[in-house]
Amino acid sequence: MKIGPVRENRPAGIVLRDLGKHFPGAPLPAVAGVTIDIREGEFVCVVGASGCGKSTVLRMVAGFESATAGDVLVDGEPVTGPGPDRGVVFQDYGLFPWLTVRENVAYGPRQARLPRSFVAARTAEAVEAVGLTRVAGSFPHQLSGGMQQRVAIARVLANKPAVLLMDEPFGALDALTRSDMQHELRRIHRDAGVTVVFVTHSIEEAVYLADRVVVMAGGSAHGNAGHVREIVDVDLEGDRDPTSPEFNAIERRIDALVHAGNAAVA
Ligand SMILES: Nc1ncnc2c1ncn2[C@@H]1O[C@H](COP(=O)(O)OP(=O)(O)OP(=O)(O)O)[C@@H](O)[C@H]1O
Ligand SMILES: [Mg+2]
Repeated sequence: MKIGPVRENRPAGIVLRDLGKHFPGAPLPAVAGVTIDIREGEFVCVVGASGCGKSTVLRMVAGFESATAGDVLVDGEPVTGPGPDRGVVFQDYGLFPWLTVRENVAYGPRQARLPRSFVAARTAEAVEAVGLTRVAGSFPHQLSGGMQQRVAIARVLANKPAVLLMDEPFGALDALTRSDMQHELRRIHRDAGVTVVFVTHSIEEAVYLADRVVVMAGGSAHGNAGHVREIVDVDLEGDRDPTSPEFNAIERRIDALVHAGNAAVA
């Protein structure tokens, strides 16, 4: 049987239209008026001070939280709950400790009741895509944090998602592992042809990874709802060099936007 590329589905566009979330009992909405149009295959990072609603927005796209205002459309369809078209990766890896790497990755395709040979092929591809073939028989506790995070990524790739939603996935990794993972993720994004929405506290990470960076601001600590402050194009060609003047200029601009959001209410 021929093993194709990790993804067969095409990446999906995501439309957030005047999206809002008001948690029951909260005096203010957590987020309001979020409008973002994400192209198929685009890599979008979301930054902003703690509490401005980054995770809430991501969770609404994932379908873990329902919107209380506006719409979320993935591939033109309203999101009504979680689905295998949207793979979600968090900071804590959420692996099954009693399953091997291979079994963790096979979990989704098995749940989808794909034929056994198909499950095996997809699993092998996804494990290969994150460079873990040699440790496929190991258990999560035998792996480093970076390797565990790779397993978490392989696990969602095995479902051939149209969209990858990542909430501070590299936040717990040491600096060296983190920069390796950023490099890997750019390659996976290129090869797998998937739309990525990636939340991070690191502006450098956002500028390294993203086609566009959504800067959010506000939140209850500021007496208003979290909202989009600005969307910045990362207009850098080819391999990105975090020490280059062009890179630093974009970083400084985003940093000023993030902090302007706080100063406005200080
Ligand atoms: N399940 C919930 N119930 C009530 N309020 C919530 C819930 N989840 C989030 N909030 C509130 O919504 C606001 C936005 O939270 P969110 O976690 O989205 O922020 P964030 O930008 O991801 O912050 P951080 O950078 O710290 O992760 C906060 O005021 C938070 O307290
Ligand atoms: Mg968060």
